[in-house]
Amino acid sequence: MTGGTTKKRVAVLISGRGSNMMALIAAAAAEDYPAEIVLVLSNRLEAAGLERAREAGIATAVIDHRHFGGDREAFERALDAELDARQVELVCLAGFMRLFTPFFVERWRGRLINIHPALLPQFKGLDTHRRALQAGVERHGATVHFVVPETDAGPVILQDSVPVRAGDTEETLAARVLEVEHRIYPQALRLVAEGRVKFAPAGNP
Ligand code: GRF
Repeated sequence: MTGGTTKKRVAVLISGRGSNMMALIAAAAAEDYPAEIVLVLSNRLEAAGLERAREAGIATAVIDHRHFGGDREAFERALDAELDARQVELVCLAGFMRLFTPFFVERWRGRLINIHPALLPQFKGLDTHRRALQAGVERHGATVHFVVPETDAGPVILQDSVPVRAGDTEETLAARVLEVEHRIYPQALRLVAEGRVKFAPAGNP
């Protein structure tokens, strides 16, 4: 950190085990990292990552989407209120398994980032490792990107790749890609938190 600047207040949104969340928490523990994780928020009470976050001394919250009777915007307003209450400035999605409406995406435009286990624009959506194996690609990887209303379509912040090896299964390939995820997500958050990468919609300089 350069003298006098304050760290960006970051929330990590999870639905599951939270290994990317832990990579962000570990990176943010460094004194010179430009962001601090002030909240881990899950839509699932049983997300294993919640316990790992608590053990790391991070505040957690659960907002269960099922309590909103299918009203996605009402769920998002509740998320938004929790983020505001903690004065969150940047949101990192890390295995958060809910799609957002344009309401939330516009509200957090340029301040909402996601990690996707593929080399976007290849393999948007789910089951990326299986689809990469089926397609016979030679390289596969992970991408950190800004979130836009269209799923997995926002501007890329960072991506990196690994070889697909003969005999790979979904599990072996996923494990190789996960190492990339844990490396590039903290790097990408650093770039955004330092203002060195900024969101610009396609076509704008
Ligand atoms: C990761 O592969 C991430 O890219 C995808 O969901 C998975 C979450 O894993 N969006 P974890 O909860 O971070 O371990």
